[in-house]
Amino acid sequence: MLRSLVCHHRHGKGECGFWRVRRTGVRVPPWPRSRSYPQKILMNLLLIGDIVGKTGRRMVLSQVPGIVKHRGIDLVIANAENAAGGNGLTHEVMDELFSVGIGVLTSGNHIFDKKEVFDFLDDVPHLLRPLNLPSGTPGRGYVVASARNVPVAVINVAGRAFMPFHYGDPFEAVEQVLTSLPAEVKIVVIDFHAETSSEKAALAWHLDGRVSVIVGTHTHVQTADERIFPRGTAFLTDLGMTGPRDSVIGVKSELVIRKLRSQMPVRFDTAQGAGQFGALVVEVDDMTGHAVTVDRIFIRE
Ligand SMILES: [Fe+2]
Ligand SMILES: [Fe+2]
Repeated sequence: MLRSLVCHHRHGKGECGFWRVRRTGVRVPPWPRSRSYPQKILMNLLLIGDIVGKTGRRMVLSQVPGIVKHRGIDLVIANAENAAGGNGLTHEVMDELFSVGIGVLTSGNHIFDKKEVFDFLDDVPHLLRPLNLPSGTPGRGYVVASARNVPVAVINVAGRAFMPFHYGDPFEAVEQVLTSLPAEVKIVVIDFHAETSSEKAALAWHLDGRVSVIVGTHTHVQTADERIFPRGTAFLTDLGMTGPRDSVIGVKSELVIRKLRSQMPVRFDTAQGAGQFGALVVEVDDMTGHAVTVDRIFIRE
């Protein structure tokens, strides 16, 4: 049985191109590569949509270790703007998410909802807030992470249509980051936290061939339009929510109904119960930074 888990180079599953040739049909040389004979690596990235409350965290804890192991994931990126009680992020919740193997946490308009986030946002480079906020805003909008010694830039940017803040131009903000990245950074991942599908598609087409992956978050509803654009950028309009299924995008449905019908202020509570998990796996060529495969994940509890 053990024999079936190693290739002819005695690499473990996920460490060698052998497995990817079997799974995807794409031929890649074995890891590790040498300086004298550079060989490309196919990097497996797992991107998880807005984690909402306790149910969302339970889904992350139950699903991520298995997906990482069985799909040979090299880097996990997750949106955590709603991870603590449905609004914002606490230090304790952040630690819980990092401990399960998430490498970079992105966010959005809810990142500042829990005031304690200001105590640590500046000190945690792998926790991002929207890039296109005024200069002087605590935290940062992008980071160059590392997986298998390959640099991976992760950018978190927010849209402007129907959003609660007046964000800066996301096109311009991303352009500035792209020009400032060192040449050796080939893999670029963007979490575009935006409301409208048109704004997300427009930014994705604008960046086609210059970033590896651009995925939408914020709507909490997964779309089924995953694809790779002609110049090599993978795109999904929205990753969908990782949180309570029986809810209005994570909130107890009766509260949202009451608010919409009465037009009066209603305190929103996060729903509980059965969960769902929305994510995307993207395989990226580290030499070109282009996506090779995309595989959307939606798991119901
Ligand atoms: Fe959200
Ligand atoms: Fe949001």
